[in-house]
Amino acid sequence: MKITVIGTGYVGLTTGTVLAELGHRVACVDKDPRKILTLRDGRVPFYEPGLNDLIKKNLGKNLEFSTDLDSAGESEIIMIAVGTPPAENGSPDLDFVLKAALESVPFLNGYKVIVIKSTVPVGTRRIVEHVLIAGGADRSKFDIVSNPEFLREGIAVWDSFNPDRIVIGSDSQKAAEICRSLYRPIECPVMLTTNEAAEMIKYAANVFLATKISFINELAGICEAYGVDVKEVARGIGYDKRIGHHFLRAGAGFGGSCLPKDLSGLLSMARKAGKKALLLQAVQEVNAGLPELIVKKTEDLLGSLSNKKIAIWGLSFKPETDDMRFAPSLPVIRLLLQKKAVLTAYDPIAMDNAKTVIPDSVSMTSTMYEAAKGCEALILMTEWDIFSKVNLKRLKKEMKKPVFIDGRNAFSPLELEKAGFLFTGMGTSSMTTMEAGFLRR
Ligand code: UDX
Repeated sequence: MKITVIGTGYVGLTTGTVLAELGHRVACVDKDPRKILTLRDGRVPFYEPGLNDLIKKNLGKNLEFSTDLDSAGESEIIMIAVGTPPAENGSPDLDFVLKAALESVPFLNGYKVIVIKSTVPVGTRRIVEHVLIAGGADRSKFDIVSNPEFLREGIAVWDSFNPDRIVIGSDSQKAAEICRSLYRPIECPVMLTTNEAAEMIKYAANVFLATKISFINELAGICEAYGVDVKEVARGIGYDKRIGHHFLRAGAGFGGSCLPKDLSGLLSMARKAGKKALLLQAVQEVNAGLPELIVKKTEDLLGSLSNKKIAIWGLSFKPETDDMRFAPSLPVIRLLLQKKAVLTAYDPIAMDNAKTVIPDSVSMTSTMYEAAKGCEALILMTEWDIFSKVNLKRLKKEMKKPVFIDGRNAFSPLELEKAGFLFTGMGTSSMTTMEAGFLRR
């Protein structure tokens, strides 16, 4: 099939490239000429493992990049995959989606399926339909499919080839079938539903994941008070198939372009409908309180932070991405600077992006050891693999005081304490119950 994908962010670019790899002819369109030049050169404008190779493989064959929508004239499918950033009131800003729809109107010269990939509030399909008709489109020339995307950054290519499910929402059987055939070679449950249910499924999925994280983070605080290791509790409850082990890692909380935005999006939908959504508010509050908790833990160990040199390890919102959107490191850095701490930071991939959102007073270093040099504490904010390979002896030598605040529970408290560090995690005791039992024997 011939497909035009509008928007070359994480979702649009990965989906477009994967569809090309599946044998479709794909044109990816973006307004930003610099981005298009980079892509035509076979380079990805952001860090996403595996995507570069796949683009290079398909470029000039099944995959092309353009700043104009001309390819849409020949396409059977126009896929809208532009951003829906949160507006001031928390509801997603639909401007880019509606603009993309309007700009597609001149190309609706025969029957086409408009696929909405972007995460949009329930009812957006109807708005898009109005916009198309108001823009002069003939209603018989298009149908709209709501086909949300569930890929995770950092593992986006794998997720696109191996989704847990594909959700296709449409009131047109014909459009739903066309959309379904796009993904034909992929084996997974395919769910056909209404546009509105598809729109809601995306929010419900992300908000449920956010709820799991806030649940475990709240539990972490209670565990800590009773000297119980939250990691063990997560493992123990996770064996229950109804609960599962995923998304129960306590730590600095959820960030990124989706979970925080979709949580405020659903809250805003609830507000508009006159619903209280108490649980969702709590999920948001628990997450918002974590940066303060991390700073308090640091103060508990160091006393006043004024003029104290502190290292931040990891800046991106999670490993394997350079995305800084809603990264928990940002509020932690802001709070530490308010308390007049002197900060150094290291991230293996995200430092260039971080420089655009972090004050210049934070000095970025070229190695993790350099960041720790002369510091009185080190705060781990992103659990990049490289940090787990650290030589603790060397790290201790570099630091002025060996104080380690593990904001991601990535390290074994026992191992760090054995190496002479003063350690605190997020709901982890200095000795796990298992380790303690082992030692008692
Ligand atoms: C998420 C959804 O997982 C994906 O399905 C959707 O399409 C987009 O949003 P993403 O934002 O890429 O994906 O990251 P994800 O891996 O879900 O992590 C989100 C945040 O939660 C990160 O900040 C991560 O560090 C945090 N997290 C995740 C935890 O704090 N604990 C966990 O157990 C899991």
